Amino acid sequence: MAFVNENYCNLKESFLFADIAHKVEAYSAAHPEKKIIRLGIGDVTLPLVPAVIDAMAKAVQEMGVKETFRGYGPEQGYTFLHDAIVKYYASFGVELESNEIFISDGAKSDCGNITDIFSNANTILIPDPVYPVYLDTNIMCGRKIVYMEGKPENNFLPMPDENVKADVIYLCSPNNPTGAAYTKEQLEAWVAYAMKNDAVILYDAAYEAYVADASIPRSIFVVEDAKKCAIELCSLSKTAGFTGTRCGYTVVPHALVRKTAGGKDMELNKMWLRRQTTKFNGVPYIIQRGAEAVFSEVGMAQCRENIAYYMENARLIKEGFEKIGVQCFGGVHSPYIWLKCPNGMSSWEFFDYLLDNLAIVGTPGAGFGTMGEGYFRLTGFGSRENTIEAVNRIVEGLK
Ligand code: MLT
Repeated sequence: MAFVNENYCNLKESFLFADIAHKVEAYSAAHPEKKIIRLGIGDVTLPLVPAVIDAMAKAVQEMGVKETFRGYGPEQGYTFLHDAIVKYYASFGVELESNEIFISDGAKSDCGNITDIFSNANTILIPDPVYPVYLDTNIMCGRKIVYMEGKPENNFLPMPDENVKADVIYLCSPNNPTGAAYTKEQLEAWVAYAMKNDAVILYDAAYEAYVADASIPRSIFVVEDAKKCAIELCSLSKTAGFTGTRCGYTVVPHALVRKTAGGKDMELNKMWLRRQTTKFNGVPYIIQRGAEAVFSEVGMAQCRENIAYYMENARLIKEGFEKIGVQCFGGVHSPYIWLKCPNGMSSWEFFDYLLDNLAIVGTPGAGFGTMGEGYFRLTGFGSRENTIEAVNRIVEGLK
């Protein structure tokens, strides 16, 4: 008899964003006349920038010509893209080797897949509230999970606690969902904790391109010793609008070495390469050429314009809520506004209120963990027109 993975019994019935999608579908079917404004899942709305489209179009042509056609590519990505990322990191002071970078179909997949190279005996430290993928993928492995609280008192940036022993630590900065961003000094404290405890930090930098201030790190590797204790996961979804195009990268430094339970030293870079070459056949050539163009001068300037557009949306949302006395966080180094639900509503009550009365979709904070209860997330990724309309509906509806 085939037994199934019983850890799945410990998961919530469905993934947060699938849950929300079902609720919105049901509302839409019952109210076909309503114009629903979706500011829930962090999905971009601006098209890919011209530099990316041109690069992909050229790559499509190459694929149609015998001499330039490509079959299987390197599982860890093409060198041209590694080199572009090496240069990008150098622009904010981080030196990487090309083979420390692994191209993937996005940070979500890598967040889940990276669990393969860690023992199930590890204790996992996860912030609450948090991007639910960290939690769910570790529940699937049956690992012991401990939480650290993100709350207004610590600006939603939990710091290490010497009384809590953890082996693998998830950090996300700028943070999804709260928009909070760690300073270099705070990351230094995390690196010191990881070094002292032989732990590994899994650092999700998916929103690094939204950092507005040069003093806020865009990579954990600006911190000394971070290469000895951290893996960084990043994505072009939010940097360059690749949510549907799919391309991300994970940096696993050569200096990162940890032991097996039996005491054997293992280089995590080699383990990840072994994992990827076995289970993954790489990102399509056409997409990687598009990704390379993101890091060109022209491509990055075009992407920066889109980022500025989303950040202006976030500013408008924050301004609207603050006008009616609702407390807001985030929206400075991140496209997310994290707000206190008005009138003492719970997260899901506010979700229902916005959907049923104003036809606006957001994400209930409780979906990101217990500490998210009473909070709500809205994104700046909508169109300007829809964002302004949503803010107007909210200000009118809640005043
Ligand atoms: C979110 O809304 O939290 C993100 O879009 C989800 C993701 O990046 O997978």
